[in-house]
Amino acid sequence: MERTYIKDLKDYVGKEVIVKGWVDVRRDQGKMVFLDLRDMSGKVQAVVLPNHVEALEVAQRVRPEWVVCVSAQVNKRPERNIKEGVLNGDIELEVLSVEVLNEAQTPPMDVTSDGHEIGEETRLKYRYLDLRRPRLQHNMRLRHDATLYARNFLSKNGFIEIETPLLTKSTPEGSRDYVVPSRIEQGKFYALPQSPQQYKQLLMVAGMEKYFQIARCMRDEDTRGDRQPEFTQLDMEISFATKEEIMELNEKLLIELVQTLTPEKRIQTIPFPRITYKEAMEKYGNDKPDMREDKNDPNLLAFCWVIDFPFFEKDKNGGWTFTHNPFSAPMPEHMAWLMNKEKIGEILATQYDVALNGFEIGGGSIRNHQPEALIKVLEIMGHTEEGIRENFGHMLDAFSYGAPPHGGIAWGLDRFLSVLTNEPNIREVIAFPKTGEGRDLMMEAPSEISAEQLQELGIATNRKM
Ligand code: AMO
Repeated sequence: MERTYIKDLKDYVGKEVIVKGWVDVRRDQGKMVFLDLRDMSGKVQAVVLPNHVEALEVAQRVRPEWVVCVSAQVNKRPERNIKEGVLNGDIELEVLSVEVLNEAQTPPMDVTSDGHEIGEETRLKYRYLDLRRPRLQHNMRLRHDATLYARNFLSKNGFIEIETPLLTKSTPEGSRDYVVPSRIEQGKFYALPQSPQQYKQLLMVAGMEKYFQIARCMRDEDTRGDRQPEFTQLDMEISFATKEEIMELNEKLLIELVQTLTPEKRIQTIPFPRITYKEAMEKYGNDKPDMREDKNDPNLLAFCWVIDFPFFEKDKNGGWTFTHNPFSAPMPEHMAWLMNKEKIGEILATQYDVALNGFEIGGGSIRNHQPEALIKVLEIMGHTEEGIRENFGHMLDAFSYGAPPHGGIAWGLDRFLSVLTNEPNIREVIAFPKTGEGRDLMMEAPSEISAEQLQELGIATNRKM
């Protein structure tokens, strides 16, 4: 007989089925044993009655988190035992036989609760158990649904998904790079991408016109509730599109995705309000304003666009640095200032950020596709001609071969999902996140590598061997 998923049991009342899964809870009442069974699709209560002697013997032995194969008859529950509004609240399995597929040690934590009460150390060390809890199962499914929705939406709109390299060269995204040593060219390093920014622009030069990617990004910065060293962007870039078109398309995708996947949510204002950086700072004191009318409502989503960001700001050494992205174009009316290097602090960028309930969940811009304009940006930031050639030569070369005007955006997918699921930390929507110290407690990474590996790479470390 084929296995039946627990969510489908309601269609089998009066029939015999085979259920495979985990023992969620076991209640031994001596003469009979109740087992709550769990698979990826849900839970069901099963009862082992005294007349099924062999089954009862096994059921008395099993413990929570054992893996079992149960054959059973699906029964309607008597009226007084019906639980309204709960999956399988009106049915019960009468167990005919139990086969143990695998035993389990006593788990180091409760995996049936929502887990908020359990310490991070235990949860992350035993993440494969932590992920069994219904809350995280739900988060992983919603994540899958959201990326699938975005993929389909973009594909229908003429985008193609293209993968870009992880072993690459440092991108000046404003954070520290993770680096990977080269074995063949000792003393040289790849950098892991902080985002696919340069590659996606090069894909525009390559005539792809509409690119997207569910892209992994790596930034060596301090971890916070909304920041992980390794995170995922829904990244896109479009040729010949205006700022308005890119914002509209993304707004449409956000609205449709929310309305389809989380219909219980209410989007406060459609179309999304737009606020300038200056107004946001004055009114809210930050550039990712929380515009919710009612902050106690867990189902309220207040999206807004933040626009008109200053292009440059002073860095701690008194020089100029970019606020968002060195590849952005200035507002068209400020292009002359950029080219003449005047009123530098007043130049506004074509940058647009999308904020949701006080989190920056995405950002993008129209880019400088003219090499001269990109050179000016880099000069203002203090790069020498030589430095520009060395670090950005490939971009400048590419832009000299007929680069279309282009722009794009990247969503912080983890952040967006954590707001959608009302999670306090993006860890809760990432299968295998890192701790605040950037550690993977389950794999015990980072870890030392062998002396042979180091030697092969031509690397000496300061640590005592
Ligand atoms: P930016 O650096 O703004 O832009 O990143 C885009 C979005 O990614 C999310 N994000 C993060 N999420 C989790 N952990 C992190 N450490 C982290 N850092 C950023 C944020 C942010 O809005 N290449 C440009 C995009 C573009 O211009 O197209 C970029 O990476 O939600």
